[in-house]
Formats: sequence, C-alpha cells, structure tokens
Amino acid sequence: MSAAQDKAPLKVAVAGLGTVGQGVVRVLARNAELITRRAGRPIRVVAASVRNRSRTRDCPLEGVELHDDPLALAGCDVDVVVELMGGLELAQSLVLAALENGKSVVTANKALLAERGDVVFAAAEKSSGALAFEAAVCGGIPVIKALREGLVANRIDAVIGICNGTSNFILTEMARKGVAFADALADAQRLGYAEADPTFDVEGIDAAHKLTLLASIAFGVRPMFASVYHEGLSRIQARDVQLAQELGYRIKPLAIAKRGATGLELRVHPTLVRNSHLLASVDDSLNAVSIFGDAVGQTVYIGRGAGSEPTASAVIADLVDLARGQISGDPLGQPVGGLHAGTVLPLGEVRSASYLRLRVDDAPGVLRSITAILAELDISVEAILQKEPREAGAATLAIITSVAPEARHAKALEQVLALPFAHADYTRLRVEHFDED
Ligand code: HSE
Repeated sequence: MSAAQDKAPLKVAVAGLGTVGQGVVRVLARNAELITRRAGRPIRVVAASVRNRSRTRDCPLEGVELHDDPLALAGCDVDVVVELMGGLELAQSLVLAALENGKSVVTANKALLAERGDVVFAAAEKSSGALAFEAAVCGGIPVIKALREGLVANRIDAVIGICNGTSNFILTEMARKGVAFADALADAQRLGYAEADPTFDVEGIDAAHKLTLLASIAFGVRPMFASVYHEGLSRIQARDVQLAQELGYRIKPLAIAKRGATGLELRVHPTLVRNSHLLASVDDSLNAVSIFGDAVGQTVYIGRGAGSEPTASAVIADLVDLARGQISGDPLGQPVGGLHAGTVLPLGEVRSASYLRLRVDDAPGVLRSITAILAELDISVEAILQKEPREAGAATLAIITSVAPEARHAKALEQVLALPFAHADYTRLRVEHFDED
C-alpha cells in the first residue's frame, strides 16, 4: 500500500446522484488509485442525498449513506459537500449551511453562483471551508483554473466563448443539414442535449450565467448576471446559416466579456465568426473559450461542456485540490470584499459589425437606397450577396457592414425596414472580428 493510500481520506457527501453525481462516484471509484496518488490521500464518498432511493444508479454505492434530505449532508461527518442538485432555493440553503458548518463546498450550480453570488461568495469568505466551482463553467474544460491560476499574471482583456453546447449543437445541425431552428432543437431534445423546456439553453441564459462567473474572475467584478445582455437563437433561419457560410462565416452562440476604456461588455448572442477563427470550427455540442491576456496573448480551450464524466472530471479536480489543501479562501481568485461593482457599457455603445439579411422588392435603385442609409450613418458595406429572385419580384440581400456602435446599426435597420420596398422578413446578427482575422 502506498503512503497516500494510508492517509486520512477526504470525506465527501454528494447532494444529487443524477447524471453528474453518478459520474463523480463512478470516476472516483474507477480511477481511485491514480486519484489517491495525485491527491496525496484517498477521496471517499461517504454520504449522498437522493430524491428516489429505488432508482437504479450506474455507480458503486457500497459504504455510501443515503439521505432523503439534502440539508442533512451539511451536518454529516464530512469535509466536503458536493452540490449537484441545481435549482436555487434548496441549493442555496445547503451551500450556506455547509459553509457555516466549516465544510468546503464544490458545486456545478452556475445559476446559484451567478444570481446569488453576492451571498454565496461572502459566506465562503467567512467560512473556514472553501468554495470551488470548476464544473459550473463549461463542464470538463478547466477554464476557471486557467483564469485563476494559469493566467494569473495577466490583465485579462477579453473572454469569448461557446459556453452552451446545446446552442452550438443546434446551429451546427442547421449548418450541416440545412434544417430550421425548430427541427434542430427537436434533434437536440431527442439526443438528450436539450431539456424538455429548452429556454435556459436557447435563450442564452445558461451561457449568461457562465459568462457572469468568467467576468468576475477575469475582471475582478462582483457577479453581475442582471447586466448581461442575452439574445436567443430562435429568430435565425436556415437561410441565414447558409448565407453566412457563403460569405465566409459560421454562426456561433458566443458569450462575450470584454474590458473597454469606458466599461465592460457582457453579452451573449448568436454571432458571425469568420471561418478562419478557431471558434468557427468548434462544432456539435463542444464548448470552447478564448481568453486574451496582455502577457500571454490569446489562449483557447476546447472540450465537453456537459455530460456525466466530463462534468465529473471538473468536480473531482476541485476535490483533489481540496485534498491537497490547494484551494484558497478566494473562490473568485481575489478577496470578495475587493471586487468592484463594475460598469457595463450600455448596449447601444457596444461596437460590432452587422450581418443583415433583407427581403426586398426586386426593382432598380433598391440597393442604392439601402447603401445611402448606411452611408449617411457612416456604416460601410464590407461584403454583399444578392441571390437571384426565387419568386417573381422579390430578392434576398445579405450584407456584412463595417464596425459601428449598436445604436447606429439599430437606426440603420429601422430606416431600411421603413423603405417602401423592404419586406418585414429580415435578420440582423452581430459579427465578431478577432485580432487575427
Ligand atoms: N445545458 C448546458 C449546455 C450544459 O447545453 O451546454 C449545462 O450548463
């Protein structure tokens, strides 16, 4: 027996033995020897809470004391409570109770941390236990570790990611099969990526939760979920995906946090990304995060953002840090009391380029009128594609504009749509240019 094997184990209670909880128990058992060696002592799940005791579970549960009430775990003889229940109220009560009792907490609950972060992080600071949440952001990708530790020397200027696998899968399906949003969503639900109620994923709320946490660590600001702009995918048509491809772009569900001279940009929306950028080729349900640091430049992290064992991988990474005593009392990488309130740039002042798909009457002078409006607002046309009319008298135009403030794009769109030959059917999306584009 190795010395590590003989050391006192880190005792763990897991609240919720769903897909991820089972993954944690399974991977800890399967890789017990190497995890013990790396952690310097065994990590042992000794208690868990479940909603339904009679359910069959795909993980070994010998020696695990089962509880019906998750709150009971806060009083168990354990070092760490792993919260994998999701939701807000009960999860918050458990996390606060565990921290108050001096236990460490590992959670994958991005909604709790993003929406109730002020309370939870303050409780963690007071507690003799630690709080860790690698699994809350992009599942198996160690992006919290990268930001808090690997890139600690850098002033972070931007974090731009595909932080929701379901949305990425839907847009990939639309591109690959030419299907409508509703059909791609139905495929995502059939394959188990999307929930029966897909709102959090397809409206950008899940990604906004993750972006809130990334921005807090990157910029040293308090969690500001309410200030994150989010826009969903449902207005995107199959032809937008195709036109974007013809123009040399992919539409990706980006979460964008940028430090600007006058404020932070915090936004989640479907975005055109040039084919040449790495994020454009991150497909299916994969996640990817691109971080820009002043010293290191751009680094990109790609991997599985959800699923049983990818998420378990992140949970166990936190457990190993706790076993080694390597997690500091500052869950956001700096004292909670020192976080700034943060100023978010109003959306109207955010600068980006636009993709504009318009349906217009096919008549002489139409293009001239549209470009005149853009020129008047100092917006230049960077690329334009006109499809031959498929129905008599109506044409489709796709335009990529120069970079301009959002408010000017909005004004241009309003004026173009008011032209007598413009149809009501249109799409406007933002285009993100990366430095190396
Ligand atoms: N539902 C999320 C996704 C994973 O599709 O990426 C959990 O946040």
